[in-house]
Amino acid sequence: MQKGHRFLGQGKGFWLAVALAVGLLASACARTGAYPLDIFYEMHYSQATRAGEPARLDPPPEAVSRTGRKPAPVTVPFEQADTLSPTIPDTPETRRLGGQLFATNCAPCHGVNGDGQSLAADRFESATTIRPPAMSSDRVKGRTNGQIYHAISNGRGLMPAVGKLLSEDQRWAIVYCVRAMANTGLPPAQACP
Ligand code: HEC
Repeated sequence: MQKGHRFLGQGKGFWLAVALAVGLLASACARTGAYPLDIFYEMHYSQATRAGEPARLDPPPEAVSRTGRKPAPVTVPFEQADTLSPTIPDTPETRRLGGQLFATNCAPCHGVNGDGQSLAADRFESATTIRPPAMSSDRVKGRTNGQIYHAISNGRGLMPAVGKLLSEDQRWAIVYCVRAMANTGLPPAQACP
């Protein structure tokens, strides 16, 4: 009787400590990469979404590479983008991979057909007057492969950098598909089948 009463009658400090501990645990569980308990649910984490995506996270910096190549940030300025050398060749296979990665990483803004038609593009335009360009636009056509690689890696103007989400090989694969779209004016499904 006495004990039970004491338990429920713990001071405010005790319950505050309990609340803090629970809160800490919850935030620890919600950290990226460890979801024993999905408290702050995000659609991106769901298996259904991830199953359709090619892998797109770089390994952690301290990971030991089995291919002998480490992901390097692009440190040269845009003007020197042409000094960047591709890490993979331009082949039908790498273009196809680029097309898949375009669908995941670029299409939300640049449109599934790479024509700059998307809801996000409309929002960009109404909010800033700047629209994500079509891959067949003169602007993109006039860029070299190195410049497109640079834009993907470091961002450009209002476009965010997606370099951290993609390996070097994946970025070059996208460049090859963008080049194919720019040259042919076709959507990725046809330009990089
Ligand atoms: C969040 C929306 C968004 C995403 C995602 C995005 N872009 Fe962009 N992109 C833009 C916008 C907006 C611009 C125009 C930027 C400006 O003019 O300030 C742009 C510009 C570009 C340009 C022209 C750059 C230049 O130097 O003129 C290229 C090429 C490009 N994007 C390719 C891509 C590719 C490839 C991807 C996927 C890896 C991608 N973008 C992902 C919004 C996006």
